[in-house]
Amino acid sequence: MSKPILQALGLSYRYPDGDTVLNDLTLTVPDNGRLAVLGANGAGKTTLLLLLSGVLRPDRGEIRLEGRPLDYSRRGVGVWRQEIGVVLQDPDDQLFAATVYQDVSFGPLNLGLPLPVVRERVGAALAALDIADLADRPTHALSFGQRKRVAIAGVLAMGPRLMFLDEPTAGLDPRGTQQLLLTLEQLHLAGTSLVLVTHDIDLAYGWAGEVAVLNRGTVARQGPPAEVLMDRALLAAGGLRPPWVLEVGFRLRDLGWLAPGVGLPRTQGELLERLARVVRSEGGGSRE
Ligand SMILES: Nc1ncnc2c1ncn2[C@@H]1O[C@H](COP(=O)(O)OP(=O)(O)O)[C@@H](O)[C@H]1O
Ligand SMILES: [Mg+2]
Repeated sequence: MSKPILQALGLSYRYPDGDTVLNDLTLTVPDNGRLAVLGANGAGKTTLLLLLSGVLRPDRGEIRLEGRPLDYSRRGVGVWRQEIGVVLQDPDDQLFAATVYQDVSFGPLNLGLPLPVVRERVGAALAALDIADLADRPTHALSFGQRKRVAIAGVLAMGPRLMFLDEPTAGLDPRGTQQLLLTLEQLHLAGTSLVLVTHDIDLAYGWAGEVAVLNRGTVARQGPPAEVLMDRALLAAGGLRPPWVLEVGFRLRDLGWLAPGVGLPRTQGELLERLARVVRSEGGGSRE
């Protein structure tokens, strides 16, 4: 496991009017990594993001960024939110200004940055999300996928070191999902640590460098996707199932169609490519 940037240690949380959602949860976010936190509906994924970003305060436990504990004073939370950006599941919970430009510039203006710096940041964020042409459009007149990208641009313009995304592909069509994954890849290459929370195990398997599985309010297991996501009992206990590409990969390996020492395919594209190789080398049945 790589060096952590953020650590949640023994977090417990109960909504004032509800049941305990998180119970002694420990999670490590790798620096410049791609972590997927997986859990069924109601597992507490969104609650976890609200705790990690300082919106909610845990009943017990501590959150540390590079060893520094989150300070819940007004100023402390303000500083924390500059380093940690959260993209909410529904862009309509995030967007509020009249136009795209106004929305994306709100955060940097609030930081008190000089206007030329604000302009530069907004321009870079809009370009990164490929929505520069939408700058003057009213946010309410955009499609769901466009609003989602505006919401991400708004977070990006704050220059966070860590970005949390709550079910980022929910409501996107396949093209929108593909575009989003490309954007995340660019953010990752630019040095942003990414945490995606989702119930979409196929997405997580294709994307994540590391996965953590939530069950009963705690992280039941965290580690490399191919190891954690083959643990059927663990996944079943959390209301999840293994990624289909991984299941097919294992079956093909059992049948001797994929060489044992070689990594299993991570995506549908990789799986089809490997199958094509098997078929080309004497019509199936032979090893790679
Ligand atoms: N504001 C709230 N007040 C009371 N209970 C809540 C609130 N938000 C979420 N919950 C409850 O907390 C649990 C976890 O919810 P959530 O974090 O949204 O899960 P997930 O994002 O994994 O679907 C659920 O049982 C949900 O009903
Ligand atoms: Mg949620």
